[in-house]
Amino acid sequence: MKSKKIIQALLGKPTMLYEKFHQDTKLGFRFPKQEYKIFSSPSRIAHKEYLRLEKIVLPTPQDIKIPLTKTLRNRLSTRDFSKDPISLKTLSQLLFFAAGVTRQGKRPYPSAGALYPLEVYLLSQRTDIPKGLYHYNIRLHVLEILTQTIPSKVIRTLFIQESIKNAPCILFITARFPRNTVKYGNRGYRHVLQEVGHLSQNIYLLSCALDIGCVSIGGFKDDAVNTLLVVDGLEETVINVIAVGRKNKKSLTKEKTPVRLK
Ligand SMILES: Cc1cc2nc3c(=O)[nH]c(=O)nc-3n(C[C@H](O)[C@H](O)[C@H](O)COP(=O)(O)O)c2cc1C
Repeated sequence: MKSKKIIQALLGKPTMLYEKFHQDTKLGFRFPKQEYKIFSSPSRIAHKEYLRLEKIVLPTPQDIKIPLTKTLRNRLSTRDFSKDPISLKTLSQLLFFAAGVTRQGKRPYPSAGALYPLEVYLLSQRTDIPKGLYHYNIRLHVLEILTQTIPSKVIRTLFIQESIKNAPCILFITARFPRNTVKYGNRGYRHVLQEVGHLSQNIYLLSCALDIGCVSIGGFKDDAVNTLLVVDGLEETVINVIAVGRKNKKSLTKEKTPVRLK
């Protein structure tokens, strides 16, 4: 079996799942044309709403007057959070400028075919809103209350890393694949991952501008998170998790000083 893989690798044939996936979703002769464009873009851009659930209205987000280049210089991952809660004002700015509807249906991140397959959920553990799980409704700029009773032992099962389990706020970015794949087929999977990267970087830069810390988390248990969010893991599934919180100022001196570019 091992020698078969070596021979395949020598012949330039994909041996790993990701290689096969990448190869089979290249545009060109390998990619079945009919799969690329099954339907034209739907005229109405989909987004998720839980209309019957109670909501927390977020304040109007205020502009943040920090130079973009300063946030790019200072961006870094923070894993040590203070006990101070995140304010509602900060949550509002973070969600709106990372993932909201900024103008005429536009979002602050690009999306293949403007199909916007991503959704954002928020787990509050130490913020101005009660502990619980919320969905960010982009149209209304409100948080829809999914549940305010989550046992802490459930949260502990979601992550491998101890420091993340008590983060003041945890953002879950999910993808509803069919919004994209109905048009782009399997290649849409690539688009979706790219878009999660765009949105995640918005959260990183905004955290820096808002003087809070954040860290992307690869070490989460997919099915446990999907169960918490009540999504099926196929049509909609979690792709990235970002822990957010006020930085523990005591530990900041231990962090590396950001490099100053000349
Ligand atoms: C996809 C991805 C997954 C990551 N997963 C984790 C993680 O599970 N735990 C963690 O502490 N940091 C995680 N990080 C953060 C990286 O460790 C961090 O970006 C890297 O060490 C560089 O440090 P900096 O972000 O401060 O520049 C992840 C980053 C990315 C992009």
